[in-house]
Amino acid sequence: MVPRVTLGRTGLSVSCLGYGSMGIRGPRTWGVRTVDDEHAEKLLNAVLDMGINFIDTAPDYGVSEERIGRFLSTRRNEFYLATKCGCVYTQHKDHLEIDHQFNKDVIERNLHNSLERLNTDHIDLLQFHGGDAETLEHEGLLTLLQDFRSQGLIHHIGVSSKIPQISGLIDLNFFDTFQIPYSCLAPEHGDLITRVGESGAGVIIRGGIAHGGPDAEIQRPALNDVWSQAKLDELIPKGMTRAELILRYTLSHPHCHTTIVGTCDQQHLAENVTASRLGPLPDPIYREITSRTQSVPE
Ligand SMILES: NC(=O)c1ccc[n+]([C@@H]2O[C@H](COP(=O)([O-])OP(=O)(O)OC[C@H]3O[C@@H](n4cnc5c(N)ncnc54)[C@H](OP(=O)(O)O)[C@@H]3O)[C@@H](O)[C@H]2O)c1
Repeated sequence: MVPRVTLGRTGLSVSCLGYGSMGIRGPRTWGVRTVDDEHAEKLLNAVLDMGINFIDTAPDYGVSEERIGRFLSTRRNEFYLATKCGCVYTQHKDHLEIDHQFNKDVIERNLHNSLERLNTDHIDLLQFHGGDAETLEHEGLLTLLQDFRSQGLIHHIGVSSKIPQISGLIDLNFFDTFQIPYSCLAPEHGDLITRVGESGAGVIIRGGIAHGGPDAEIQRPALNDVWSQAKLDELIPKGMTRAELILRYTLSHPHCHTTIVGTCDQQHLAENVTASRLGPLPDPIYREITSRTQSVPE
């Protein structure tokens, strides 16, 4: 069992480790990783079997929604489903082109397609995939999502955002949840997460394992630089992996309700579940990592 946490004012009891399903988006997407249907089916079922009950997806994650619908709809009562809206996408022969547009036509089409692909009659959490406060209000989109909620098509309303748009969105005092990027290697949203948590909204962290850190299969040089400049290898307790340190640091943020880690590797999934059971890092290590990463120049 992965520990459960109340996702802010949604009242949903979610696993502190969620599953970010962008990685199962399939072929011809952003040219990174490809997993076939059989692999995706095993992985998605393992996610639930291991005690994760919160899955994040989006209309513009290739075949991710479709796969969740095909492989998990018989287990729909075992998990909360979060998807997004404001997504415009075109599948070309060799790549997926995506854009985010915030108007009624796009949002209505996204919800209709998501319900169909996900093979469900409701979305637990519908999140704007970006956007700013002025546009969402001016286009009547907050009211539109409230209408969806009154019809029972969605249960809660959130937004995925970051600096600089996020401040204005918090000020609206409207959203049930915020999806925010954060890790010890990219800590710049740490104070905003506190602001969101203190406002009573749910906090969903993305990028919470910093894409796997220095041991990742797909390397991120900018994040690795922070790791080496902060000399984080010196702080790893015996027997702990780098990925575990990063994940448990994210889980140590006092306002992190859940972090939607993506993986296409069952071994990594199992390691992440074990790490989430161990929970926050010991306080002295947490404070030392914070102090060292904050003094790395941007
Ligand atoms: N704007 C938005 O709304 C937005 C943007 C980006 C992402 N998201 C959401 O957030 C989720 C997560 O984001 P993300 O994929 O960018 O960041 P992430 O979860 O920090 O990184 C995922 C990467 O970490 C690797 N990984 C996971 N566990 C590992 C482990 N134990 N050891 C080594 N490597 C490990 C995975 O590779 P392996 O497959 O090798 O494990 C994968 O490539 C997405 O799936 C999506 O749902 C939302």
